[in-house]
Amino acid sequence: MILVIGTGVAGLSCALAAVRAGAEVTVATPGALSGPDGTDARAGGSTALAQGGVAAAVGPGDAPAQHLADTVAAGAGLVDPEAAGLLAAAGARIVRRLLAEGFAADRRPDGRVALGLEAAHGRHRIVHAGGDRTGAVLHAFLADAVRAQAAAGRILLLEERAATALITDAGVVVGAELRRRDGGVEARRAEATVLATGGYAGLYPRSSNPVSSRGAGIVLAARAGALVADLEFVQFHPTVLHGTGALISEAVRGAGAVLLDGSGSRFMADRHPLAELAPRDVVSRETGRLLRERGEEAIWLDATRIERAEGAGTLAGRFPGISAATAAHGYDWTREAVPVSPAAHYTMGGVASDLEGRTSVPGLFAAGEAASTGVHGANRLASNSLLEGLVFGERAGRAAAGFASGGRRVAGRWNPRGAGFRALEKGAGVAAVSGGAAPAGAVEEVPSVTGLRAASREDAALVAMIRVAALERTESRGAHQRFDHPDPDPAQAQRRAYRFALPAVRDPEAELESEPHSAATGQLRSLSSC
Ligand code: SIN
Repeated sequence: MILVIGTGVAGLSCALAAVRAGAEVTVATPGALSGPDGTDARAGGSTALAQGGVAAAVGPGDAPAQHLADTVAAGAGLVDPEAAGLLAAAGARIVRRLLAEGFAADRRPDGRVALGLEAAHGRHRIVHAGGDRTGAVLHAFLADAVRAQAAAGRILLLEERAATALITDAGVVVGAELRRRDGGVEARRAEATVLATGGYAGLYPRSSNPVSSRGAGIVLAARAGALVADLEFVQFHPTVLHGTGALISEAVRGAGAVLLDGSGSRFMADRHPLAELAPRDVVSRETGRLLRERGEEAIWLDATRIERAEGAGTLAGRFPGISAATAAHGYDWTREAVPVSPAAHYTMGGVASDLEGRTSVPGLFAAGEAASTGVHGANRLASNSLLEGLVFGERAGRAAAGFASGGRRVAGRWNPRGAGFRALEKGAGVAAVSGGAAPAGAVEEVPSVTGLRAASREDAALVAMIRVAALERTESRGAHQRFDHPDPDPAQAQRRAYRFALPAVRDPEAELESEPHSAATGQLRSLSSC
């Protein structure tokens, strides 16, 4: 039996692929996948909130090689080309299959799939649905398929179950403990366990993510001894409605919106040749720099020109979700620029995983934002995250099925050479360390470190791991920016994986009594002394 934990795009894709591979599958979700509108926030996670779409080279004249090139360019020197090549090629195939199966992508009047433009893509290649509701539409589509398999008895769906621990036996993961809504804990044994539990951008006070995005699965994996990689790379999205968690999709800039400073002038055109459509890390960094220089809190996104443009369609028609969100916060974005500022949005770090989703611990697989394959390098390209869930979710499902059906020796062998660690192994090899102290004199002004909020001991463990990774990377690269090391260091152009010796926790859910930062630091000390 395969246990899939999590029901975002990666978990659902994984479960369906495992069923197709003939496996017996159990799916556990902290929410209710079978709610009246198909899902709830805890089951949909970040997937159901995704606005922009799914990047895929399916348009005329496009090719996976071009998508790969854009992905590599955005990733600031750390993209694993094999992983990204697979993302682009398999991604295009999967998106075509979904369209053939009836996924309701938005279409042009001539019936062809409408393709949007987003930052750092060389061409229009974003497949979207429901205007800016792509994630919700895709989630509902996959959830319907999973429910149909559950009704046919091929998937056991366990709702209202949160994973609290992985069960290990002689170094092999053999299932997980799941806490029910009534507080009771049940042990589910499995031949293969897949973590599809999402990222950790919800740990940041300014975040576009649901508060439940706290990297819970990454901590479970680390406690089971798995390598975790790239935790320092936290992507900040430049256009989140200031003072809220409401994302304003990059697709809006792709459609022609511009960014203005406090005096109403465009500023990105002077800072990058692609102006507002520069890679996301560049736009966030330049925005942060401008705000610090001016002592201001927000810049302005002017989308009124889209509303005024001939034949472009109304903002309400093209972006219904964002129109509702801006209106709910008191703005009429058809008539006025709205204040925006960067907020944590996506985390490149996660459980170190190979191209089949295998982790460094036998029996444990990871997929989607919970995993770190190297596919995004130091900065993810827009709309590559739903695609990642589709591609690597399926691959993890197939590999887990192979592992469970007795292929442990072959199917179970973790192969970092085939995934994101290739470049790293050419250099110093996987940097496996037990803990690691913050370097002396390390500054706190690292966006991926400042403001981290730990509300539980599990949060504190992850905060501590992020701090170690962020402070040890003494350079600025992609989404990782430091004032004390403002430039990239070619000698550090490698991904890093850590094996942390996390202290055992009796009650992982216990609320922290102390102030978040000191709690995290306390945890770091215990890591360092392990
Ligand atoms: C957006 O719509 O700007 C977000 C898409 C993404 O995170 O890739």
